[in-house]
Amino acid sequence: MSNIISDLQGKALLAPLAGVTNLPFRLVARRLGCSLCFTEMISANGLIRESAQTLEYLKTSPEDRPLGVQLFGADPRVMARAAAMVAGQNPALIDINMGCPVKKVIKTGSGAVLMKDPLLAGRIIANVVRAANLPVTVKIRSGWSQGSINAVEIAKIAEDSGAAAIIVHGRTADQGFSGSADWDIIGRVKSAVRIPVVGNGDIRKPGDALRMLAQTGCDAVMVGRGALGNPWIFQGIRQLLAGEKDCRHLSWSDRQEIVKQHWEEEVRYCGRHFADRSFRKHLLWYTKGLAGSARLRETLGKMTDSDAMRSEVERYFRSLAAAQAEIMT
Ligand SMILES: Cc1cc2nc3c(=O)[nH]c(=O)nc-3n(C[C@H](O)[C@H](O)[C@H](O)COP(=O)(O)O)c2cc1C
Repeated sequence: MSNIISDLQGKALLAPLAGVTNLPFRLVARRLGCSLCFTEMISANGLIRESAQTLEYLKTSPEDRPLGVQLFGADPRVMARAAAMVAGQNPALIDINMGCPVKKVIKTGSGAVLMKDPLLAGRIIANVVRAANLPVTVKIRSGWSQGSINAVEIAKIAEDSGAAAIIVHGRTADQGFSGSADWDIIGRVKSAVRIPVVGNGDIRKPGDALRMLAQTGCDAVMVGRGALGNPWIFQGIRQLLAGEKDCRHLSWSDRQEIVKQHWEEEVRYCGRHFADRSFRKHLLWYTKGLAGSARLRETLGKMTDSDAMRSEVERYFRSLAAAQAEIMT
């Protein structure tokens, strides 16, 4: 039977990441082999009020396909109205956020707190499925807390309510991002439902994706923090899935080119003023742990002119390439 997740070309998805997975970052990830990208979580309430800031999160382009739009909300009717609005834009799927543990979200009754109310969770999913007329996925945690692990129960409810797939982040909500992700729960969900299961949590290197697929039997993997400053992780996963023994390392000049294109895209889609600020975090991620990056960060921190920043970053990558060439001669 046709299914949005099992029919994908490839098996690695980019996670919804608030403040990060905007259109420019998604385009970069796609060029490097990501199979499906998600918007960051979008407030259903904000959407139906047509708040300009919320509508901004829906910004997309013809190359930004297939796209999952993630919604959060607690009222089944509001979620249905928001889903119908989003469906008008024709994304590949709508995802429902039932995993966010952030106070601002859970105090509205949305996100991970819905795992404590399976009945309401089911009503929300059924309403969104009915209103969207598109595949609907649900992103959950392993449970609210260690004492209430109920991912299997919620996954079954999602399946019965018409969800097309379930995405499991193997941490409890009260764990936040601490500790390590429990991949066993992903395997347990996979054994309990017939719809595809996407595993999520702690994929930092391409090899981790293959381990998660093998260990849990999940149908696809979702990469979050492991893609920050490292979008070529998707290329590595593709190479390993294609049977290559090791994934090829990118040259410094290839990395520099990716950073340059990402930055240009950020300016094109967000405007120069916004990009000058928003791209700084990507620069920190792109250079994290590299030789001399602390000094680069210090220098960039004092700079306000983005052309000068660009030249500094280019000079930095050229110096890395030169140092490597010296080692190899
Ligand atoms: C900065 C940041 C923003 C996030 N924003 C979202 C979000 O908008 N929606 C969501 O479902 N999860 C969000 N998450 C959780 C990730 O999608 C993912 O489930 C989590 O980071 C675990 O995967 P990882 O170990 O690959 O990072 C966010 C995580 C981070 C670090």
